[in-house]
Amino acid sequence: MEVKKILIDNDTIQERIRELAEQINDDYKEKKLTLICLLKGAVYFFADLTRHLDLDTELCFMRLSSYEGENSTGKIEVKIDIEEDIKGKDVLIVEDIIDSGNTLNFLKNYLLDKGPNSVKICTLLDKPKRREVENIKVDYLGFSIPNRFVIGYGMDLDESYRNLLDINCITQENDPKIEEDVKSIKLQLTKKNH
Ligand code: IMP
Ligand code: MG
Repeated sequence: MEVKKILIDNDTIQERIRELAEQINDDYKEKKLTLICLLKGAVYFFADLTRHLDLDTELCFMRLSSYEGENSTGKIEVKIDIEEDIKGKDVLIVEDIIDSGNTLNFLKNYLLDKGPNSVKICTLLDKPKRREVENIKVDYLGFSIPNRFVIGYGMDLDESYRNLLDINCITQENDPKIEEDVKSIKLQLTKKNH
């Protein structure tokens, strides 16, 4: 039987977000940073991350689409574009999860065409084993995760489950690897005080 299991609890997410924010604060010191939230999946990550930034920020929102069920359709469309002019600005894309890499590869090129000073990528999760696009640079990464479909903390399965507090995965009731995966993810916190 398929069940939901917590893969990353909210405390662990918040701890990693504070570490990422410290890194971003250091890298963009004295600069204005334009952050783009990729709706809908990155909504909670964006809200939590940006509130730890000690910088002059501009918050923007975009929506792309490509997914149906658990699979990418491969064709990416801009459903909601940014309203702001990003010419000459330092831009940071904030995404929930990078899987094949097609979405962020498309978006980075799309934004670079608008003439910003820089475009970097910050993603909460990465499934490196699923990558189809080789040359995509993730500048800030929360957690690298195994090849599991995750839901919660913004992420959905056909629009359900986004509002779960923790990141869950859908798995079998007696999944022998789940505890091991949970532990290996926690070890990625820089301050390994667990
Ligand atoms: P990519 O284009 O294959 O890299 O897919 C990235 C997008 O797919 C993300 O923005 C998510 O919206 C969605 N996605 C990928 N993996 C998952 C998952 O495990 N759960 C929920 N959404 C996912
Ligand atoms: Mg997304």
